[in-house]
Amino acid sequence: MALDLKRTLVSVVRRQLARVALKQPAPPPGRRMHAMTQGTRADWAGIRRGDAAFARDFADRLLGQLRLLRDVRHGFAVDRLEHCLQTASRAHRAGNDEEYVVCALFHDVGASLAPADHATFAALALKPYVSERNLWLLQQHDIFQGYYYLHFLGHDRHARDRFRGHPAFEYTAEFCEKFDQAAFDPTYESMPLEAFVPMVRRVINPGRRSGRK
Ligand SMILES: [Fe+2]
Ligand SMILES: [Fe+2]
Repeated sequence: MALDLKRTLVSVVRRQLARVALKQPAPPPGRRMHAMTQGTRADWAGIRRGDAAFARDFADRLLGQLRLLRDVRHGFAVDRLEHCLQTASRAHRAGNDEEYVVCALFHDVGASLAPADHATFAALALKPYVSERNLWLLQQHDIFQGYYYLHFLGHDRHARDRFRGHPAFEYTAEFCEKFDQAAFDPTYESMPLEAFVPMVRRVINPGRRSGRK
C-alpha cells in the first residue's frame, strides 16, 4: 500500500516536472486522472462541477430525444412526436398542472432508445423531478394503455387489473382514457413543442427536485 502511494506520488511529481520543462499548462482537475486509483479531492471537485453543468442541460437533451420521434409513425395516423404533443396539449387544456403536462409530453420519449420498455425509460428520466404518483403513472402507463388494444393482439386487456387498489390506479387509468389513448387524431390542433419548453425548463430543473408526494 505504502509502496503504491510512493509510486503514485513519484509519477505525479514526474508529470508535473515534465510539464514545467515543456512549459505546458497543467490540465484542469480530473483530466490528469487516467485511472480512478489516481483520483484526488481536487479531481473529484472538478468532475462534480462538470456533472452539475451537464445536469442543467438535461431538459434540452430530453427535448432533443422527443424531436427524434418526428416521422416515427408505425402505422398510426400521427407520428409519435405529434402523439406526445397531442397528449400534453389535451392534458394542459383540461387544466392539469405543469408537472402533469410535462409527464404527458414525455410519457413516450423512450420510444426510440428503449422500445422494449419505454414506460420505464420515461419514469427513470423524470424520476428526480416528479411526484410519486406521476412517477407511477409514467412507469405503468403502458400496461394501462393496453386496455385499449391488447385484446386485438391476443393478450389480456385487463392486465392492469393486477394493480387495482393502488392509490394511483384511477389516476393512471384517467390519464390513458382522457389523454393518451385519445391522442392519435390528425385533425386535432396540438400546441407546438416550443409552447411547452418554458414548462419543461421549470419542471426539469435540478434546483426543483421533487419532494416525492
Ligand atoms: Fe406509451
Ligand atoms: Fe402514448
